[in-house]
Amino acid sequence: MNGKFVTVEGCDGVGKSTQVRLLRERLSKEGVDAVFTREPGGTDIAEKIRAVILDADNSDMDALTELFLYEASRCQHTNQVIKSALDAGKLVVCDRYIDSTLAYQGYGRGLDVDMIKTLNRWAMGGVEIDLTLFLDVNSADGFSRKGGASDGDRMEREKSDFYERVYNGFIAVANEEKRFVRVDASGTKYETHEKLYAELKSRGMLK
Ligand code: TMP
Repeated sequence: MNGKFVTVEGCDGVGKSTQVRLLRERLSKEGVDAVFTREPGGTDIAEKIRAVILDADNSDMDALTELFLYEASRCQHTNQVIKSALDAGKLVVCDRYIDSTLAYQGYGRGLDVDMIKTLNRWAMGGVEIDLTLFLDVNSADGFSRKGGASDGDRMEREKSDFYERVYNGFIAVANEEKRFVRVDASGTKYETHEKLYAELKSRGMLK
């Protein structure tokens, strides 16, 4: 695989979608051959799985069912989109990937982290992440930025203690993985954007 694989992670409410959009616009202006994609989702099948996962009517979903759905989405997406883009030498920027599963289903839901690591490996089918940009906003600020336990999708309805465990999960992964960079996202969206761009550049992700 000749391309570079960058994942962007963070708790709900930290402005991740805005940051991914700003990066996409900037790289497109600069003529960088990049594929922007997201999880759960990123292919027709995986977007259907996303709709099932996030449907607020599915409030009785079992935690293990939820995990398998995220992994099913990942497997389809990785095989259908990410692998071929990397093989073609492209930069792939994915809005959430395996670390979200560790943080949300592992630390948030309390499922076995080693089992999740094994499932992640199977779903990734040999793909490796070059760099993970974590939008770091402490869990209390992140929670209030997203408007508390809002009546948004099924995940966004979770309470503040869930999000605190998720944040701590991301920090635990950050301490384990060299590819993981914590980017302070407490400033304005433009300040955060410049920090993310600088990380991509200085770590050789932009050829
Ligand atoms: P998004 O709002 O960033 O598109 O993500 C959808 C939700 O799914 C968000 O609440 C985080 C959650 N999520 C997990 O719980 N586990 C995962 O593996 C992924 C990729 C996302």
